[in-house]
Amino acid sequence: MTSTTDPLRRWRDLQRELVGAAAGQTEDCLRAQAHADLSPIGWHLEHCVFVECVWIRSALLDDHGIRDRLAHRCLPELAPKSGRGSRLPPRQDLLRWSSETMQRNEALLRRVRDPEAADPLRKGDRILHFLVSHHAQHLETIRTIALRFSDSEGGNAPAPAAGGAGAADRSIQQVAGGVTCVGGADAVRAHDNELPRLRVRVREFRISRRPATNRAWDEFVAAGGYQDPRWWTPEGWRWRRRAGVEAPDAWRRAAAEPDDFVSGVSRHEAGAYARFRGGRLPHEHEWETAMTAGLLSDTGRVWEWCANRFHPYPGFRPFPYREYSLPWFDGRHYVLKGGSRLSEPEVRRATFRNYYTPTTRHILSGVRVAYDCSV
Ligand code: AVJ
Ligand code: FE
Repeated sequence: MTSTTDPLRRWRDLQRELVGAAAGQTEDCLRAQAHADLSPIGWHLEHCVFVECVWIRSALLDDHGIRDRLAHRCLPELAPKSGRGSRLPPRQDLLRWSSETMQRNEALLRRVRDPEAADPLRKGDRILHFLVSHHAQHLETIRTIALRFSDSEGGNAPAPAAGGAGAADRSIQQVAGGVTCVGGADAVRAHDNELPRLRVRVREFRISRRPATNRAWDEFVAAGGYQDPRWWTPEGWRWRRRAGVEAPDAWRRAAAEPDDFVSGVSRHEAGAYARFRGGRLPHEHEWETAMTAGLLSDTGRVWEWCANRFHPYPGFRPFPYREYSLPWFDGRHYVLKGGSRLSEPEVRRATFRNYYTPTTRHILSGVRVAYDCSV
């Protein structure tokens, strides 16, 4: 889908989705922090408009007005998360300004866009593809926040699609070892952290056809999995005890459908669950290899925690700015693959690499268990 859709149209659609998602919120919900790690929805919208202005007006057209005026509150590194809600304009002003500025940005980019140009921003429409993927990620975060608000109101939001038929299927796929390629084949659509495309060797391994369901997770809970340090790493056990975690985050907020894939679990919990099942987390290269070989079902339902840290591929070059990926190669962030049911298609691609710290559980994060092959 994504390779044939006109990126300008796709971008325009995402702009509308972002404004629409924010317009669906009350003044209070636009400013509220649903979780200490989550910025207000209104901030995400303002940030997306700002990012467009940075690349289109400032970088391509040398017009720095909006960037200079808004950097202190829209650049994540300059705007402390706790103060983001109070610095937002009133709801109506924010919605109108966002909508108008985005429309103007679109007209401006249409005018200066040139896929044949030599500069790295315009060449192949790379900055346009970046904006699409950037906005898709913030849209998912906005949906994650909106879901928290509706869950805490008693779950009267439209029921999201369940895991689907056959979710109880626990079959396991065998994946042959060998050399495969990971990373973005289409360099203008890929993020800097997916490039350059990389040849990797994976050993033969096995991987579940589907992510773990709530029903399967309940067996872990009923077997005392949260009370048994044997399944946990020392770090994970310390975290679990200190945080008092005894069930997935989503379980506290909404009734969990048994056949839905479990979500709201930290990497510590995902790893403990995998060990309880006699397995482990997959390495992202294993995951991508199995996905590309067509061996995984139900990807793009929950983010799937991987074994490895987020790291640069050899030959990594930052785009469009150093801080897009570089700060997160800090040894504290781990990769998640696949996308969630709140993700846009651009984010569900096989090569997309998400990353969070191992205690993160406010996203739709789940687990697919991998196993070593017994020789
Ligand atoms: C990769 C989803 C963790 O939203 O914080 C958005 C992506 N980077 N704007 C985030 C991102 C810059 C990032 N995640
Ligand atoms: Fe951003």
